[in-house]
Amino acid sequence: MLVKIPDVLSAEQVTEARHLLDAADWVDGKATAGHQSAKAKDNMQLPEGSPAAVQLGEMVLQALGRNPLFLSAALPKTVFPPLFNRYTGGQSFGTHVDNAIRQMPGSGQRIRTDLSATLFFAGPDEYDGGELCIEDTYGVQRVKLPPGHMVLYPATSLHHVTPVTRGARVCSFFWLQSMIRSDEQRTLLFDLDLAIQRISGEFAGQKAADESAVQLTGVYHNLLRQWAEL
Ligand code: NI
Repeated sequence: MLVKIPDVLSAEQVTEARHLLDAADWVDGKATAGHQSAKAKDNMQLPEGSPAAVQLGEMVLQALGRNPLFLSAALPKTVFPPLFNRYTGGQSFGTHVDNAIRQMPGSGQRIRTDLSATLFFAGPDEYDGGELCIEDTYGVQRVKLPPGHMVLYPATSLHHVTPVTRGARVCSFFWLQSMIRSDEQRTLLFDLDLAIQRISGEFAGQKAADESAVQLTGVYHNLLRQWAEL
């Protein structure tokens, strides 16, 4: 399941973040890449644990902790401290899958990466290219979102970033372990939660009721498909 989450950060937070990102020292992104992905990866990154990365990472984590759509879609157990990257001058990241296991900086605790996330800081009109292309069951999803918005997608997905041919693409990216390991089960819970929120909303009307009925019917049949023995 791929979920776009609008307005994770406010316009003011994006502006503040961009000041810090502009003033920060960037290093070659290959520094943190594995052997195979180093061949595909061509971008710049804030060093893990650098003051700007820590401060901005904290801002992102706090915003996520208050975001109902993120909490419902991810059901997060442990979120990896956000990292930051920048693509300019034709830089890109070829097709790859993110590492399954990541070690948390500091504690050394290992997390299983169930979901990958990318949060955008630059507007789509500020750069050409730089689309995050995620291969899912139904083909390739091309994602390029307004500043402050984020995409969440299964970490099992093949993905790449197309060359940035004008301007700069600046993003935060990170992974998380969910309380629900299975994408299928997490999606069912998410659909149920959305339907519940829709029908219990203060201004819920006939349209909300109709949409929720369709969504709940989908959940019913998907559970039946999982559990039915014929
Ligand atoms: Ni990746």
